[in-house]
Amino acid sequence: MGFRMSLSDADDCGGLTRGEMIKNVRKFGAVTAAGAGCVLTRSGSGSEVPRTPAAFAASSDLPEEAYTTIGGDMKTCRILNGMWQLSGAHGFRPDQKPALQAMAKLVNKGYTTFDLADHYGPAEDFVGAFESQNRAEADKGQFFTKWVPRPTRMDRSTVEAGVGQSLARMKTEPIDLMQVQYSLLDQRPGQRMATLAAERGVGLLCYGTVLGGLLSEKWIGKPTPTRSDFTTVSEMKYYNMIRQWGGWPLFQELLSVTKSVADKHGVSIPNVGVRWVLDRPAVAGAIVGTRLGLTDHSDDNRRVFGLKLDDEDRSRIAAVTEQSRDLMTVIGDVGDEYRG
Ligand SMILES: NC(=O)c1ccc[n+]([C@@H]2O[C@H](COP(=O)([O-])OP(=O)(O)OC[C@H]3O[C@@H](n4cnc5c(N)ncnc54)[C@H](OP(=O)(O)O)[C@@H]3O)[C@@H](O)[C@H]2O)c1
Repeated sequence: MGFRMSLSDADDCGGLTRGEMIKNVRKFGAVTAAGAGCVLTRSGSGSEVPRTPAAFAASSDLPEEAYTTIGGDMKTCRILNGMWQLSGAHGFRPDQKPALQAMAKLVNKGYTTFDLADHYGPAEDFVGAFESQNRAEADKGQFFTKWVPRPTRMDRSTVEAGVGQSLARMKTEPIDLMQVQYSLLDQRPGQRMATLAAERGVGLLCYGTVLGGLLSEKWIGKPTPTRSDFTTVSEMKYYNMIRQWGGWPLFQELLSVTKSVADKHGVSIPNVGVRWVLDRPAVAGAIVGTRLGLTDHSDDNRRVFGLKLDDEDRSRIAAVTEQSRDLMTVIGDVGDEYRG
C-alpha cells in the first residue's frame, strides 16, 4: 500500500484538530495534508499490484501511455474516475450495487484510479464496500480521498504550519500532487503554477476537463441555457465559469472548433478537451467525473489515449480561447474561485 500527499486548490483544511486528523489517519491508514486542501491517498492493498505502466497496460484494455507514475512509485491511470458525481447533487441517487458494478467494470477496463472526498456522498463507503465485495478489482485500484473541513480564513502561515505538520508526521518532504481546475476554458494553471510544479516535480491532477459534460456534442447549437436546462451541479458550476470566461456565444465557437478537430481525428469533443489538458506541462492526470451506475463514457474516453493533437489543432483552438476574458483578472489566481 502506498500513500501520497497532495493538495487541492479548492478545499479548505482550516480548523483541523489533532484528534480529527489522527482519526482520519486511523480511518484510512493513510496520511493527511492540511492547508489549502487535503487529500488522503491510498493504493490497492493487494500484493499483486502491477509495478510498471507496462505491467498495468498488460492487464487492462488501455494502452501503456494511459498510465503514469506519481510520487516516485505510485502507478496511476491518467484518466481518473471522479466521484463527486455521487454527492447527490448530480441528478440521481447513487445506489451501491450498480455503483460497485460500475467501479469493477472501470477497473477491469483499466481505469484503476479513483478520486473522492469525505463530502462526495457515499463515495468513501462505496470504496470500503468495494474493498470487501470486489477484492480482486480493489487490489488493482488507487483511491485518493480528500478531507474537507470547515471553511476558515487561510493565510500563508496557517497553510505552512498545517502542511509542515503533515509532512513531519509522514516523514516525507515533497507534496506529490496538486488538484486544480484546468480546462480549455480555465487555463490559469498554465500561467505560473505548471512551471513551478514542473520545476518541483509536482504532478497536477486536473478536474473540469469536460466542463461537467458541457464540453460535448450534446450542447452544440443550443441556445443560452437557463438553470432548468441543467441536471447536475457540475453543469451549473461550469456554466457560471463560461459566463465569466466569455459567454455562451463564444463557448459555442469553442464547441464548433473542437468538433471540427474531433472530426479530423475521428474522436469526440470530450476526447479533445481531455487530451489538450493531458498534454500540458506538469499534468499527471485528468479527473473525469463519472455518474457510477447511471452513465458510462469509458469506451469513448479510451480514445483519448490514441489521440495526438497537432500544432494546427492547438492554434485553431487558441484562436477561440484567446478571445476570452483573462480569468486571472476576473476570478483571481488558481483556487480563488473557491475563496469568498
Ligand atoms: N478538488 C476539487 O475541488 C474538485 C472540484 C471538482 C471536482 N473534483 C474532482 O473532479 C471530478 C470531475 O468533476 P467535474 O465536476 O469537473 O466534472 P467533469 O469531469 O468535467 O464532467 C463529468 C461529466 O462529463 C460527462 N462526460 C464525461 N466523459 C464524457 C464523454 N466522453 N462524452 C460525453 N460526456 C462525458 C458526464 O456527464 P453525464 O453523466 O451527464 O453523461 C460526466 O458526468 C469530480 O468527480 C471530483 O473527483 C475536484
